[in-house]
Amino acid sequence: MRLVLVGPPGAGKGTQAEFIAERFGIPKISTGDIFRANVSGGTELGKLAKQYMDAGDLVPDKVTIAMVRDRLGEPDASAGFLLDGFPRNVAQAYELDSILGDLGSILDVVLELEVDSEEVVRRLSGRRTCRKCGHIWHIEYDPTKAQNICDKCGGELFQRDDDKAETVRHRLDVYAEQTSPLIEFYSGRGQLVVVDAIGPVEDVTERAINALVEATDAAEAALAVEAAQDSAS
Ligand code: AP5
Ligand code: MG
Ligand code: ZN
Repeated sequence: MRLVLVGPPGAGKGTQAEFIAERFGIPKISTGDIFRANVSGGTELGKLAKQYMDAGDLVPDKVTIAMVRDRLGEPDASAGFLLDGFPRNVAQAYELDSILGDLGSILDVVLELEVDSEEVVRRLSGRRTCRKCGHIWHIEYDPTKAQNICDKCGGELFQRDDDKAETVRHRLDVYAEQTSPLIEFYSGRGQLVVVDAIGPVEDVTERAINALVEATDAAEAALAVEAAQDSAS
């Protein structure tokens, strides 16, 4: 399964990515997480990315694409992957085609998580992330037993710098202008699957997994028909 997750900030991409990747046994590759790890590690990449992330803007394509190319070239991604947060504009989508072409593979499906912007603001203002294991929590929707301590690993929780109200507004604008054209791009190619991302996390996971299984079964069936036609002709 070679899968891209798309949806506005706060749609639940990171939350669902964890469960979907586990279900299909593929690595979850989140460009936002890789940038944040570089920011915490104080690397040159982190220093550069931080300026853009704090403003809610996209990190320049050149940097992001080189990073994704390296990551997709690693052995664990050869049998499939889940990309969370990439591509984020049409130029990155074409670059993804080219990276996969060089690796001799193609993208199977793009899953859009659909939510309205009011819900996005509610989700982001209450988000807390574990510093140790990266699990994503919410102070109301998915609270931990003890305040600011991860139930899964005991790690400390933090609030992302870019979850301030004004930055969230700007991230939503950036999504509308630069990222949302991908919906039409992938639906035009017949690769888009849309899932309603409102409701309990487990329900969204179930809808997403069912939709993915259905989409990949349909694609396999179409390939089998094509192969049968080829051998008949
Ligand atoms: P990134 O980290 O990708 O941020 P984003 O796209 O803005 O998305 P978020 O991570 O904020 O939201 P999410 O959809 O993952 O939601 P989550 O699961 O956490 O990118 C950050 C920055 O990095 C960018 O602004 C840019 O600068 C840079 N960057 C990254 N990729 C780039 C690229 N390709 N090119 C250039 N720059 C790039 O959920 C949110 C909250 O909601 C949580 O608290 C969660 O518990 C809760 N929640 C989830 N599901 C539900 C539910 N069903 N019901 C109730 N609450 C829920
Ligand atoms: Mg995320
Ligand atoms: Zn944790």
